Amino acid sequence: MKQELLKKFEEVFGSTEGANVYFAPGRVNLIGEHTDYNGGHVFPCALTIGTYAVARLRNDDKLCLYSMNFEESGIGESTLSEIENKTAGDWRNYPKGIIWAFGQKGFKVDKGMDILYYGNIPNGSGLSSSASIEVLTGFILKQLFGFDVTNQDLALIGQFSENQYNGVNCGIMDQFAIAMGKKDSAIFLDTADLSYEYAPIALDGAKIVILNTNKKRGLGDSKYNERRSECESALASLQTKLNIKSLGELSEEEFEANKSLIGDEVKIRRAKHAVYENQRTIKAVKALQDKDIELFGKLMIASHESLRDDYEVTGIELDTLVAEALKQEGVIGARMTGAGFGGCAVSIVRTECVDKFIENVGKAYEEKIGYAADFYVVEIGDGPAVL
Ligand code: GLA
Repeated sequence: MKQELLKKFEEVFGSTEGANVYFAPGRVNLIGEHTDYNGGHVFPCALTIGTYAVARLRNDDKLCLYSMNFEESGIGESTLSEIENKTAGDWRNYPKGIIWAFGQKGFKVDKGMDILYYGNIPNGSGLSSSASIEVLTGFILKQLFGFDVTNQDLALIGQFSENQYNGVNCGIMDQFAIAMGKKDSAIFLDTADLSYEYAPIALDGAKIVILNTNKKRGLGDSKYNERRSECESALASLQTKLNIKSLGELSEEEFEANKSLIGDEVKIRRAKHAVYENQRTIKAVKALQDKDIELFGKLMIASHESLRDDYEVTGIELDTLVAEALKQEGVIGARMTGAGFGGCAVSIVRTECVDKFIENVGKAYEEKIGYAADFYVVEIGDGPAVL
């Protein structure tokens, strides 16, 4: 892979002098969905698929960005002084947003760069291809300019750029999972204070299988920001009586006793999901520590039902994949993962049943939805690296 990337870089930029190769993973969230902007817990892990880049400094202030995934758009050339100018729908808004965000945080990028990107995460599939580009670009800036930032800072700068530059009000989960990824472990993160623990994922005799609906979605035009404001409004109503900072502070009982304060039926369901999903995540990590993988699977299923019925972010494609997955032999649990509205589902399946699982679910999905799903048997990998 490294050699191929260097070869391509040479083709595009003329030589490989001064260039290094970098990688940042994608992520999948095992449980704890739409909890990260509600002060709750999440349980994602980094993947061995992700985004690669070859990068070097230039002696002028030109920024030359090329993606092997969008070869038709060629080398995008701009200067550092026009970093604030965005082009709607251009993938370069992600790396440019990071350079802008570093500047906002006092880290001045004062030299241009040539960067070639290549991602093997399916775009827009809910496996965080954008957060992967963001963390990767931050990691490259850290290496090339010697900025004194930790990997956790890279996550926060990535989120800042996504919120402020790209206009998506996302939480911290994706960038954190990618920047802090650890091989064979998921990250149990409390988004209220960013305290976290690594939990080894030893799925004896089982695999993580990701199911891609192949329904494209973009977070910016989805109902993501709307869900977030519904939760904020529910929280504000609860705060008229309760002294809480986020929905993540509530137990199920406290929520039930006070939910009438919210008034609106839809907002009650949104807040209910946030509260119950957070508690489910805590229970799921405990189940894993107790080696009770069956209970972990049941909690995954309950998570999907809540995202479908109360949070309403699934849709026919994700619901079909999960329903068909749950009919199969050897399935331990399945649920949508990421923002929803299309994208991917994640499942845990007994190793000896994986082939049949993929065949059966694939067939049923195509019959119902009219086009094929994709399946990936994934491994949990490390965070960003120089290759
Ligand atoms: C997207 C966002 C995350 C998180 C998930 C839903 O992936 O980027 O911050 O909110 O959706 O859990």
